[in-house]
Amino acid sequence: MGKDVLTLIDQRTEISYEVPIQNGTIRAMDLRKIKTGPEDFGLMTYDPAFMNTASCRSAITFIDGDKGILRYRGYPIEQLAEQCSFLEVAYLVLNGELPTAAQLHDFVNHVTHHTMLHETTKKFLEGFRYNAHPMGMFISTVAALSTVYPEARHVHDPEVRKLEIYRLIGKVPTIAAYTYRHSLGYPYVYPDNDLSYTENFMNMLWKMVEPKYQANKVLARALDILFILHADHEQNCSANAMRAVGSSLADPFVATAAAAAALSGPLHGGANEEVLKMLEVIGTKENIPAYIQRVKAGEVKLMGFGHRIYKNYDPRARIIKWAADRVFEVTGRNKKLDMALELERIALEDEYFIKRKLYPNVDFYSGIIYQAMGFNPEIFTVLFAIPRTAGWLAQWQEMLEDPEQKIARPRQVYIGSGVRDVVAIDKRNGKNSTASG
Ligand SMILES: CC(C)(COP(=O)(O)OP(=O)(O)OC[C@H]1O[C@@H](n2cnc3c(N)ncnc32)[C@H](O)[C@@H]1OP(=O)(O)O)[C@@H](O)C(=O)NCCC(=O)NCCS
Repeated sequence: MGKDVLTLIDQRTEISYEVPIQNGTIRAMDLRKIKTGPEDFGLMTYDPAFMNTASCRSAITFIDGDKGILRYRGYPIEQLAEQCSFLEVAYLVLNGELPTAAQLHDFVNHVTHHTMLHETTKKFLEGFRYNAHPMGMFISTVAALSTVYPEARHVHDPEVRKLEIYRLIGKVPTIAAYTYRHSLGYPYVYPDNDLSYTENFMNMLWKMVEPKYQANKVLARALDILFILHADHEQNCSANAMRAVGSSLADPFVATAAAAAALSGPLHGGANEEVLKMLEVIGTKENIPAYIQRVKAGEVKLMGFGHRIYKNYDPRARIIKWAADRVFEVTGRNKKLDMALELERIALEDEYFIKRKLYPNVDFYSGIIYQAMGFNPEIFTVLFAIPRTAGWLAQWQEMLEDPEQKIARPRQVYIGSGVRDVVAIDKRNGKNSTASG
């Protein structure tokens, strides 16, 4: 084994440089010294969509995309899903260690006592149009919490941060449930502190006139497992948004809203809703081969397939398939599952998908379970945002405590016009202002 050094020769100057290699990376700033002369800015890297750039050092989530491995703080996702509750995992993601019984009790107690929304926030939600998309309502209401808790801007104060973390984890299920009730025109249901995190969420979603809501334990546990699977996923689009917005020292409410906005896109958390729409478009199993042909022709994407990092089966999809069987024992089998299984079978045997290493991701099966549980597709991404709030906050906190991090501000390669003079408005030709001048 040689030295952990990369030797580069700049053919423009014939100068050779030594760049240290650490953790399989070189520091982009080490390239800045590579110049053609004193006036030269120095070499940069160009990496649209961050295909090969590490933006931080993180100790939260580990993914090996080739092997299909996902771990939070070193613990395999399979063990966490089987043995822990979502709030236990949220504590782990945020604090680095699994809680003791006393620490968990304390954490659950704090989160439970921050589930209520200020009445003015409830009124704020009432202002949305009757058919507003739940994700738009969710994003806006999370951002609006920033006006209720102005002290949240003291992001360098660990005690303030801790309080806002309790508030966010406590309130996101309430906001999510209210967006759902709003879309149905039902009155909002206040949180019930006797219930677990997911049971209380189900209570706020589905309680009608009964004095005390009784959640189905199997469904509550399945939802808890789904929350565990969605708690964090290292530097994805929304985590990156959280870190980027948080790096300007914006408060955690607006930063979380920005992260949720990133999540809402169909290429990210919006994919679970798109999977259901896609299955509806396909209609029957017989139509699957023709749909696969359209995918291969580049007309449509197979939603819920493919991942920037996983080039193997997404481990979360495997656990979701397992949870689906438990859910269907209670709800009856969702017919869409048979279509999804057939779609997966055909796709995994097809050269197009094999060559590109396209496998089902977490969104492929989650929507089918959610639908069986009684959720409308419009709320699926909100269901993703609830547990991911814990991950976003862990990423945000880690970023703030990292002495190497500063305001996130990428460079660009400028490809626009050189300097030119403004032409009077009556002399412009609308195409190239300099041409008529
Ligand atoms: C997740 C996703 C955005 C990752 O994108 P990416 O890392 O930029 O990968 P690319 O778009 O470069 O895809 C590589 C190749 O696979 C193809 N591909 C990727 N996902 C595909 C899909 N779902 N259906 C069909 N083809 C797909 C691309 O067209 C491309 O083919 P090409 O090499 O012939 O051009 C992408 O796989 C996707 O759009 N999936 C569907 C949406 C989804 O399920 N998102 C949830 C992610 S958890």
